[in-house]
Amino acid sequence: MSFNPPDGSPHRVEPVPKSANLVIVANRLPVDRVEQEDGTVAWRRSPGGLVSALEPVMRSNNGTWIGWPGGTDSDLEPFEEGGMNLVPMSLSAQEIEEFYEGFSNGTLWPIYHDVVAKPEFHREWWDSYVTVNQRFAERAAEVAGKGATVWVHDYQLQLVPQMLRELRPDLRIGFYLHIPFPPNELFQQLPWRRQILEGLLGADLVGFQLAGGAQNFVRLVRQRVGHKTHRDLVYLPDGRTVRAAAFPISIDAAGFEELARSEGVGKRATAIREALGNPRKIFLGIDRLDYTKGIHARLRAFSELIVDEHFDVEEAVFVQVATPSRERVEQYRILRDEIDRLVGRVNGDLGRIGRPAISYLHSSYPREEMAALYRAADIMVVTPYRDGMNLVAKEYVACRFEDDGALVLSEFAGAANELRQAWLVNPYDINGMKSALLEAFEADERETSKRMKAMRKTVLANDVVAWANSFLEGLSHERPSHGKQVRPATRS
Ligand code: G6P
Repeated sequence: MSFNPPDGSPHRVEPVPKSANLVIVANRLPVDRVEQEDGTVAWRRSPGGLVSALEPVMRSNNGTWIGWPGGTDSDLEPFEEGGMNLVPMSLSAQEIEEFYEGFSNGTLWPIYHDVVAKPEFHREWWDSYVTVNQRFAERAAEVAGKGATVWVHDYQLQLVPQMLRELRPDLRIGFYLHIPFPPNELFQQLPWRRQILEGLLGADLVGFQLAGGAQNFVRLVRQRVGHKTHRDLVYLPDGRTVRAAAFPISIDAAGFEELARSEGVGKRATAIREALGNPRKIFLGIDRLDYTKGIHARLRAFSELIVDEHFDVEEAVFVQVATPSRERVEQYRILRDEIDRLVGRVNGDLGRIGRPAISYLHSSYPREEMAALYRAADIMVVTPYRDGMNLVAKEYVACRFEDDGALVLSEFAGAANELRQAWLVNPYDINGMKSALLEAFEADERETSKRMKAMRKTVLANDVVAWANSFLEGLSHERPSHGKQVRPATRS
């Protein structure tokens, strides 16, 4: 989705519906407000998988989406786009620093991702997190109709369920965490651990990517908050129960496949291969430029295979797309410099004229270009140190409609739970990664095709529509007597 209203302002259509039956509350709106070079404003689809995940269910329910459009503009009017009512929330420059870059991405993000980077704890960041969560909850309380379903998303908004329940006890509230939920030992470092658990307990259903996350949560609630629990249920003193369960997220698998099959994408894939000098094998990595993604170690593993003379730059190239992300956060800046340096060194040492070992692109691309890259690549390399799911792995599989192509996948990505036929690797083990990359490079057609067929079956059968419907159905069972049913999402 991409649009650019003539006057540069969002086209306001209807006033915000005060009676939405389905309200999505997420840190990001599905579109970003971007200032163009000529000073005009355009709207672009936001980064991250959440948007594509929720679009179908929003369309089916004419839902309302509350979120931040990026930037510091204040008080943008609600507007409508593609069957969704969008309600922009503004963040001040200080809130961006303290709530978004600070508590969300400097405290929670590293703690929830195995402390791959060191989390920072600052009381003013926490205060800002509380303030912003409260404002999101108040807005949701305003737009939700009686007995409506409100679905709150991700680590930036973990206090919203409880705050919203206090304002609107009639609502059916779901919460879904898109990133991993950490083991007790790490979660307990958080000075505000109890408030966060209580915030989440405002929901009727708390969803996680994996069963392990749900179990961690229930155990922590029992130990830290002292509520009774039994299996996946938490019993609250007021008689309410909260269920914690796994709902592994997915992608619009048929949509990706259709795109990959299109003539335009096919031609573009051929052009990409040609531009790279038609090497025997193309390795591909596509990630947000994030320290959890293991980009550095994977590029080292690849380059060592060239040094060890398993193949040379005429035979193989690594295309690494790194989408700019959280660029003002120091750890992200450091990471960018490290990768710039590594790519420069590897290409300087190993490349030849017109033949870099690594073709590195620090940029984000539209879906069509991603699909063309997936089609062009023989070996997809997804090696995060920790990842809630990793939708890129599933997108690659969805695009390989000829049952070819190899996937090298980290054991520590949620996707590894489902994509068992990938070449699974421990991303901390560089020699292990080298072996897996080499095996994938040398694997014969029968082997890759057998593996890809099995993975495609999994991905096509469990798409994002099935994910959204199963969460919403689960939520309606948790709170059966309240409000209208949400209509299931339909495949477009
Ligand atoms: C992850 C998170 C999302 C987030 C996205 C992009 O996928 O789970 O909540 O929106 O990254 O990150 P950003 O900080 O740009 O929103």
